[in-house]
Amino acid sequence: MYSDFQDFLRALERAGELKRVPVPLSPELEITEVADRCMKMPGGGPALLIENPIGSDIPVAINAFGSRKRMSMALGVGDVEEIALELESLLKPEVPVGALDKLRALSKLGRFAKSPPRKVDGGIAQEIVLTGKDVDLTRLPVLKCWPEDGGPFITLPMVFTHDPLTGKRNVGMYRIQVFDRNTTAMHWQMHKVGAEHARRAAEKKSKIEACVVLGGDPVYTFSAIAPLPPSIDEMMFAGFLRHEPVRLVKAKTVDVWVPADAEIVLEGVVDPNELRVEGPFGDHTGYYSLADMFPVFHVSAITMRQRPVYPATIVGIPPMEDGFMGQAVERIFLPLVRLVVPELLDMHLPVEACFHNMAFVKIKKRYPGHAFKVMNALWGLGQLMFTKFIFVFDEDVDVHDLRDVLFRIGANCDPKRDSLVVQGPLDQLDHASNLVGFGGKIGFDCTHKWASEGYPREWPRLITMSDSVKKRIDALWPELGL
Ligand SMILES: Cc1cc2nc3c(=O)[nH]c(=O)nc-3n(C[C@H](O)[C@H](O)[C@H](O)COP(=O)(O)O)c2cc1C
Repeated sequence: MYSDFQDFLRALERAGELKRVPVPLSPELEITEVADRCMKMPGGGPALLIENPIGSDIPVAINAFGSRKRMSMALGVGDVEEIALELESLLKPEVPVGALDKLRALSKLGRFAKSPPRKVDGGIAQEIVLTGKDVDLTRLPVLKCWPEDGGPFITLPMVFTHDPLTGKRNVGMYRIQVFDRNTTAMHWQMHKVGAEHARRAAEKKSKIEACVVLGGDPVYTFSAIAPLPPSIDEMMFAGFLRHEPVRLVKAKTVDVWVPADAEIVLEGVVDPNELRVEGPFGDHTGYYSLADMFPVFHVSAITMRQRPVYPATIVGIPPMEDGFMGQAVERIFLPLVRLVVPELLDMHLPVEACFHNMAFVKIKKRYPGHAFKVMNALWGLGQLMFTKFIFVFDEDVDVHDLRDVLFRIGANCDPKRDSLVVQGPLDQLDHASNLVGFGGKIGFDCTHKWASEGYPREWPRLITMSDSVKKRIDALWPELGL
């Protein structure tokens, strides 16, 4: 658990994971070019602290989550897989037998009890409060990431809103294009919870208050991108991850509570009916997402700590920093997906295909058409609905090994018989579909086929060497000098 974002940066520096860059660099394109070169290094390159961004006195931290090690450090574990194992054990609905089991069950419940956020009176997030004419977003080192971007974009913002009907909080990461000193766009895509809050506000003919938070314990950033069901409060999930409640402080000009340990907070109001052109933006897809109409966010206050650091990322042609965030989501959410799709043994969303575009999943096939059932289940599950290509494999396939995956697709799939083409919602950023947010998806059954599925021939056996011969050659191998 980190006391704030700079505490995390210090931990990265101690671990040799962060490099300071004292050379002045422009937030317009130059920081991107440096960060992109680092992100393309094997393993994700170092985190960078750009100490002297040109035009701002606030240093920029970038690529802080950009390796498996740093993503794990952000979540306070040796490896992200530990959280997946922990969630798996928490989700096991087993009745405790014996005193030790009961104690374990109680301590698990204790972990949940510590999760809800706690309201406090103040925090570093409000050491400086700027309102009225003092609000000036151009003082922040906001990056113009790519040459054809529509302007500068805040790229690691956590957007806090409340459901206008129920009051329930949502925190989502939606990029923020800065228009001028006190207005920005609010890029919540149509399927995201923030957009639903805005639609509900519009139905009530009201505006919606929002806060854009930068920094704080890095588990907040992960919680904001996590595809949690709308009923789960991201700040409660963050409390669960950090083993300590998140401390929230009331914003100065709107009725929204924000992490007391944030570096920078933008407070303001969105009128869901006031739309303005947002974009283009060099996006996760590796292409510029086209300019489109999005709501405007009017900033009523900027609060920040003394000497803040501005957290940023860039997205673009993979691999990028967000690849490691996506990898953590893939591992940590597998146990949750398995709650609903228990036959799913493993799942891999390859970074090269921009994650949610493609999924390799493995199952233990139990009945005819099982692979098709799994495809349909995934397409019906939260943000997995965006998966354009699903490949379903047998249990003896390593879905993380592209060689194994391609070998089985090629060997086991009859595209006409084994594919299922459907249509439905797509990621709003997808440019391949004819319509925005709606288009085709395809699943391939790459499992071995059964007679009961209409396969009329004998399915061949995979070639394997006998164990006794392997053992003998293992022993002989050093002598062979090969
Ligand atoms: C770096 C980064 C930038 C993102 N930008 C956006 C964005 O601009 N708009 C959006 O709707 N989702 C964006 N996302 C994805 C959402 O954060 C993600 O789908 C999240 O689960 C949404 O939260 P929600 O379900 O509470 O709406 C981004 C994710 C990352 C990692």
